[in-house]
Amino acid sequence: MRPEDEKELYRHPPPLQQFPDLLHFCREHYKGVIIGNQGYDPDSAEKDVSSKLVDLVSFAKLYIVNPDLFERIANSWPIETKQDIKTWMSGSAEGYTSYPAYASTK
Ligand SMILES: Cc1cc2nc3c(=O)[nH]c(=O)nc-3n(C[C@H](O)[C@H](O)[C@H](O)COP(=O)(O)O)c2cc1C
Repeated sequence: MRPEDEKELYRHPPPLQQFPDLLHFCREHYKGVIIGNQGYDPDSAEKDVSSKLVDLVSFAKLYIVNPDLFERIANSWPIETKQDIKTWMSGSAEGYTSYPAYASTK
């Protein structure tokens, strides 16, 4: 997410700025499965899973703009990061199901 979008979305410090060590805290005190969430991209997900900080990672916003996110990661295709947050919670499909798969943009 672009910094200006993050500022617009949260209108207060985003979660990882509020509590940057949250996942370390959880790993130390919680023995169950930890799913990392919030601002991950494939590289940071790989890093946190490899280091066992988290067991797995979920993607939300990246999946909205990359409906084929799994295929893009698996094939090293470019990953779209620009998204129009004004379409979120708008009540329409625009901005949710309107982003194209990579194969259809080639
Ligand atoms: C458009 C939109 C709608 C969301 N709706 C919900 C929701 O209904 N319930 C919820 O727990 N989280 C909701 N989230 C939060 C996401 O599940 C996720 O926690 C958040 O976007 C951070 O992950 P990300 O950085 O991979 O996007 C929503 C996020 C977006 C962008």
